[in-house]
Amino acid sequence: MWAWKIGPAIACGNTVVIKTAEQTPLSALVAASLVKEAGFPPGVINVLSGFGKTAGAALAAHMDVDKVAFTGSTVVGRQIMKAAAGSNLKKVTLELGGKSPNIVFDDADIDNAISWVNFGIFFNHGQCCCAGSRVYVQEGIYDKFIQRFKERAQKNVVGDPFAQDTFQGPQVSQVQFDRIMNYIEAGKKEGATVETGGQRKGDKGFFIEPTIFSNVTEDMQIMQEEIFGPVCSIAKFKTKEDAIKVGNSTTYGLAAAVHTTNLNTALEVAHALKAGTVWVNAYNMLHHQLPFGGFKESGIGRELGEAALENYTQMKTVSIRLGDALFG
Ligand SMILES: *[C@@H]1O[C@H](CO)[C@@H](O)[C@H](O)[C@H]1NC(C)=O
Ligand SMILES: *[C@@H]1O[C@H](CO)[C@@H](O)[C@H](O)[C@H]1NC(C)=O
Ligand SMILES: *[C@@H]1O[C@H](CO)[C@@H](O)[C@H](O)[C@H]1NC(C)=O
Repeated sequence: MWAWKIGPAIACGNTVVIKTAEQTPLSALVAASLVKEAGFPPGVINVLSGFGKTAGAALAAHMDVDKVAFTGSTVVGRQIMKAAAGSNLKKVTLELGGKSPNIVFDDADIDNAISWVNFGIFFNHGQCCCAGSRVYVQEGIYDKFIQRFKERAQKNVVGDPFAQDTFQGPQVSQVQFDRIMNYIEAGKKEGATVETGGQRKGDKGFFIEPTIFSNVTEDMQIMQEEIFGPVCSIAKFKTKEDAIKVGNSTTYGLAAAVHTTNLNTALEVAHALKAGTVWVNAYNMLHHQLPFGGFKESGIGRELGEAALENYTQMKTVSIRLGDALFG
């Protein structure tokens, strides 16, 4: 179920190579031990631990690799498409970044909405391509929502990722930690209001306090760019039309959510949003039968579901002339 976190899977004839992200080689190795236990013949599924600039680049440009399914940043996605174009025109599907909107209407069940908004942004320390990092709340419940969401976020336990009661562990690396802290500084400088968090947690490790900015405007960096950390940007909206407009107003289109008790609102907004997945009154609900992937610069193609098989297979036409020699 969590395969998109592992990284690119690359098909080589009838074998698969899983190239893990350099920061997280171990999870795929655990999965590989299960592949072995399940009885796959040796060599069918292979794990390659290595760096993007070397192992990843070599695979993307390789003449014997037929397909690359990449999960990662939009910047690297573009490099992979170029490498594919410059080599054997291998098939490419890309599952890239996002800045997914989480839209809460006045008529939503506020406790449920807060739970899902909290899970949407802070799950996996915000290191999710589909993190609900932009939260739009309708004006009638805006103040109440912020107050209660803030209280909820302050209860998230940040600490040792191996402890049972921990909800949020450290960020994956120093580079990511610094990037996120820079975004937090940018949000403060641009004039957004820090409702909670906004600091590193403790004085060692890459821990960051769950951070909520309110009063965020569309032109701010923290509303447009993917932060990939526990940082949430909130703004107020008036009408359904406004919500759709701001919901669509980034270069990304991976996921979105709508919280409302009105089915018409839910359907109308879900149809209008340019996003590969729209959750209603929920967040991060992935299922192996449901295609997952992005509109716009969030990627190309779909993973999961029947659609995901499309680019691992080829369509072939066999045309037989029923001539005299055969049937005369
Ligand atoms: C929201 O931002 C505007 C302009 O950036 C500022 O004038 C206003 O005081 C802010 N409101 C809050 C509640 O921080
Ligand atoms: C967002 O969606 C609306 C309605 O479908 C559309 O009018 C608008 O152009 C979209 N905006 C972007 C930036 O994609
Ligand atoms: C298959 O790949 C093509 C080109 O890379 C892409 O346009 C298409 O959306 C993909 N289809 C699926 C279902 O992944």
